[in-house]
Amino acid sequence: MKIAPSVLSLDYSQFPKQVEEMNASGASYIHYDVMDGHFVPNLTFGPDILKAFCKSSDLVKDVHLMVSDPVFFADVFIDAGADIVTFHYEALSSADDCKNLAKHIHERGKKAGISIKPGTDVQVLKPLLNDFDLFLIMSVEPGFGGQKFMDNALAKIHTLRSWLDETNPSAEVEVDGGINGETGKLCKEAGADVLVAGSYVFKHDIKEAVQSLL
Ligand code: DX5
Ligand code: ZN
Repeated sequence: MKIAPSVLSLDYSQFPKQVEEMNASGASYIHYDVMDGHFVPNLTFGPDILKAFCKSSDLVKDVHLMVSDPVFFADVFIDAGADIVTFHYEALSSADDCKNLAKHIHERGKKAGISIKPGTDVQVLKPLLNDFDLFLIMSVEPGFGGQKFMDNALAKIHTLRSWLDETNPSAEVEVDGGINGETGKLCKEAGADVLVAGSYVFKHDIKEAVQSLL
């Protein structure tokens, strides 16, 4: 299991201390939530803060774009140091547009991820299984940390993992929203490879929380 602390919940008044603790916690990715105030009703950070994480951490920079124009912002965050760029299926108008953006991200030497919101059927991902390195299932409505896990994510994780085992076994299934000790275990049993956790990690002892999810 890989753990991706969501730095949406990091205490920015304690940036160096918390980043140091995260680096030593056993986490694999830094999950960086980009919100544009349009695709979701919240605003977060731009590329400069990502550069600060790149300077202070060797963990993989897992950028989750909750933006209406991922075609524009993919390059902005690749230039700032993203290793994985995940965008939303719902932000583009067709599977072909999703494939084209994945291709572009790959041409820039980065991993490509695709995400679906809780109300989106997992079937939409079926034509895209060979085009992405990471599939991000949202288990809350994107926009805010600290929400309750929606358990319709579990069946999606299970379905996706079995499809990928057939056709693209090295691709990862990541789950995001409401992850804690209990829901993390359910996701693991359903076949998740990466758990994103924001409030659970940063509102507790960072290392203990990460270790409890492994
Ligand atoms: C929600 C974000 C999540 C969020 C998860 O829109 O994509 O990454 O930070 O936060 P928790 O773990 O608090 O639900
Ligand atoms: Zn996220």
